Amino acid sequence: MPDTVVLAYSGGLDTSVAIRWIPEKYGLDVIALTIDLGNEKDIEPIRRRALAIGAKEALVIDARDDFVRACVWPALQANALYEGKYPLATALARPLIAKLLVDVAREHGAVAVAHGCTGKGNDQVRFDISISTLAPDLRIIAPVREWTWNREDEIAYAEQHGLDLGAFVKTSPYSVDVNLWGRSIESGVLEDPWVEPPEDAFLWTKPIEQTPLTPRYLEIEFEQGIPVALDGERLDGVELISRLNKIAGEHGIGRIDHIENRFVGIKSREVYEAPAATVLLEAHRDLEQLTLSKEQQRFKQLVSREFADMVYNGFWFTMHHADLMAYVQSTQRFVTGTVRVRLNRGSCTVVGRKSPNSLYSEALATYGRGDQFNHQAALGFIEIAGMAARVQAAKQLLPSAESLRAIMPPKTEPGTH
Ligand code: ARG
Repeated sequence: MPDTVVLAYSGGLDTSVAIRWIPEKYGLDVIALTIDLGNEKDIEPIRRRALAIGAKEALVIDARDDFVRACVWPALQANALYEGKYPLATALARPLIAKLLVDVAREHGAVAVAHGCTGKGNDQVRFDISISTLAPDLRIIAPVREWTWNREDEIAYAEQHGLDLGAFVKTSPYSVDVNLWGRSIESGVLEDPWVEPPEDAFLWTKPIEQTPLTPRYLEIEFEQGIPVALDGERLDGVELISRLNKIAGEHGIGRIDHIENRFVGIKSREVYEAPAATVLLEAHRDLEQLTLSKEQQRFKQLVSREFADMVYNGFWFTMHHADLMAYVQSTQRFVTGTVRVRLNRGSCTVVGRKSPNSLYSEALATYGRGDQFNHQAALGFIEIAGMAARVQAAKQLLPSAESLRAIMPPKTEPGTH
C-alpha cells in the first residue's frame, strides 16, 4: 500500500491540481484536509471535490474556535499590527493549519504533509518552519513551488487529466486568503502600487459613498484584554468577530492598502479588509491607555512590534513567542472595561471608555471644582526636573551661538529655508 500525504486543501485551482499531481510525482495517497477558519465558504462541496479529483480521504476540521482563542485573541492582546498596518489575518492562521496538518498526519500514519504555497511568499516560510519544528521527521511537499508552470499550463494539465475545473474553480482576478480576522487580497492589477484597488477587490466593506450617513455607536466590553460582549450582549469569540465584521464593514471600516516588506525580501503591495480587527485593535489600545501605566504602554509597544514580526516571519512555535506572550498576558490582567466607538463613513473613533481598573482620576485632571492636584508642589517638581538642562545650557548651549541656532534658527524671509 502506498504511503500517505496530508494536503492542506482549499478547493482552489492549485491544491485541486495537486491532488492529482502528487500521486503521479511521488506515488503517495492524498488525504485532503480542509480547515474552516471562518472563510464563509460552503465546505461540503469542497470536500466532495477533493474526493472526485482522487483524494483517498477528505477531511474537514472546524477550527474557528481554536483560531480565535489561540491565535486571534493573543494577537489582539498584543496589539499586533505588522509594520503598523496589517492585523496579520493570514499569518496568524498558518501555525494553526500547520499544527492540524501534523496532527492529522500522525493520526493517519502519513509520511508527509503538503501545502499549496508558492516559492516567493511568506506562507511557505510559515508552514515549513512550523511543520519542521513540530515534526522534523515529516516530509514537506509544496507542489506549486516545484512547478514551473504558468496558470495556463496548470489549466492545461488539469484538462489533460480530466479534472472538471470549469465546474468549481472560479476565476478571480486576485489571489485571496480569508479567515475571520480578515481578507488578504493580492496580485492582478494590485501589483501596480499606483493603481487604486478596484471595487471588486472588496467583499466585506462598503465603499464610503455607499455607507450610511448616520453613525453607529457600539459598546465593546473587554475582560483582561479579550472582547466578550457587544452592546451588552455576551458573545463567543467567533460570533463576536463575525458580527463586528458585518457591522463595521457596512460602515466601510477596515480597508488597508500598503507596501509590505515580505520576510523573503520582496516588497509587495498588499490590500486587506479587516473590519472587526480594525475596530477591536483601536478599542483595545484605548482601554490600555486607561488601565496601563505610561511605562507599561511604552514597553508594550516594543513587545508588540516584536510579536508582530515573530508572527509574520513564521516563528510561532518558539520559546521567544512563549516569552513574549508571558509579558503580554501579564499586562492584560487589568485591561477590563468598556469602550464606546462611533462607526461612520469609513472611520472608527473611540468616543468613550470606562474601567473598574481605570487609572484616570478626574480629581487630579480637572480644571474645575474639586481639583486635588497640588499646584504648589509643581514648583519643586520643575526645579528638579529642569536642573540638568539648566546646568548644561549655562555651560554649553548658551555660549555656543551655533548650537543655539541649530535648535532655534533665526527668522528667515518667507519662501527661503
Ligand atoms: N502578505 C500577507 C501575508 O504574508 C498576505 C498573504 C496572502 N496569502 C495569499 N495566499 N493570498 O501574511
